[in-house]
This record gives sequence, structure tokens and C-alpha cells, in this order.
Amino acid sequence: MKLVLLSIAASSFFGATLTSPIVPKVEPKADPISFKEKVAPLLKKYCINCHGPDKVEKGLRVDTYDNLMKGTRYGKIVIAGKSADSVLVKAIKKVPGASAMPPSRRKMTDAEIKLISDWVNEGAKNN
Ligand code: HEC
Repeated sequence: MKLVLLSIAASSFFGATLTSPIVPKVEPKADPISFKEKVAPLLKKYCINCHGPDKVEKGLRVDTYDNLMKGTRYGKIVIAGKSADSVLVKAIKKVPGASAMPPSRRKMTDAEIKLISDWVNEGAKNN
């Protein structure tokens, strides 16, 4: 009788050690897109000639985060978290009805456009 009880105790002990601790599987999450490292260099490359300190088309300057967030003289072009409502993203995606930017033959790549769009959707942070 004693032996039976012991073996039950032992099996439940080993059972417990086998199933716990349960290590949850964590999917690797992509790092947030950095404004300074990723977005600003693109704006500098494609936009600053016409929207910078020298030329300020439509009142828009994209040379600093604060100026970008101020938008044009008519209003904001970045709605944090909402790329579909952001004129900035509509312009670079060349959505019908929006001004296509940059207007020259120079084209942003799909990856560059996605990066800016994703940054807006991540909250358009000054990171
Ligand atoms: C060759 C000059 C030039 C370059 C380069 C340029 N823009 Fe513009 N941008 C303009 C002009 C001119 C306007 C005003 C006329 C218009 O809206 O088409 C304008 C207007 C805009 C507007 C306002 C659109 C609206 O409907 O209110 C946004 C937003 C904009 N540009 C973003 C950008 C971005 C982002 C880039 C870089 C990817 C860029 N621009 C590159 C000349 C330029």
C-alpha cells in the first residue's frame, strides 16, 4: 500500500516538472521604424530641394520633425497612426486626387514608400 502511494506521488511530481514551467513562444517583433535613421534621410534625399530652408513649396518644410508635423500652410500632412488619411503618404503613393510627390522623374521605391507609410502607422514618432 505504501509503495503504491509513493509511486503515485512520484509520477505526479515528474509529471509536473515535465509540463512546467511553460515557456510562451514569443514571435519576434520588428523594431519600430526610426524617424532619425530611416525617414529623415529619405525626406532629405527626395523632398528637401523644394521643401527645405531654401525653397518652401506650399509652406511645407520637411527638414526637421517639427516642420514636417506642422505641414503645409493649409494644414497637417501627417495624421499619426493613419497613413490613409495622411497627405504625406497619399502624395508619395501618388494616390489619384493628391499631388504626386516628388513631382520630378525621380521616384521613391516601393520599399521606401512602405517605410514612410509604416512609420506613420506606428504613430509618427520622433524616434
Ligand atoms: C521639384 C520640387 C519638389 C519636390 C522635389 C517635392 N515637392 Fe512637394 N510640392 C512641390 C510643389 C510645387 C507643391 C505645390 C503644388 C502641388 O501641390 O502640386 C508641392 C506640394 C506638396 C505637398 C502638398 C500637397 C497637397 O495636396 O496639399 C506635399 C504633402 C508635398 N509636396 C510633399 C512632398 C514630399 C513628401 C516630397 C518628397 C518625397 C516632395 N514633396 C518633393 C514641389 C516639390
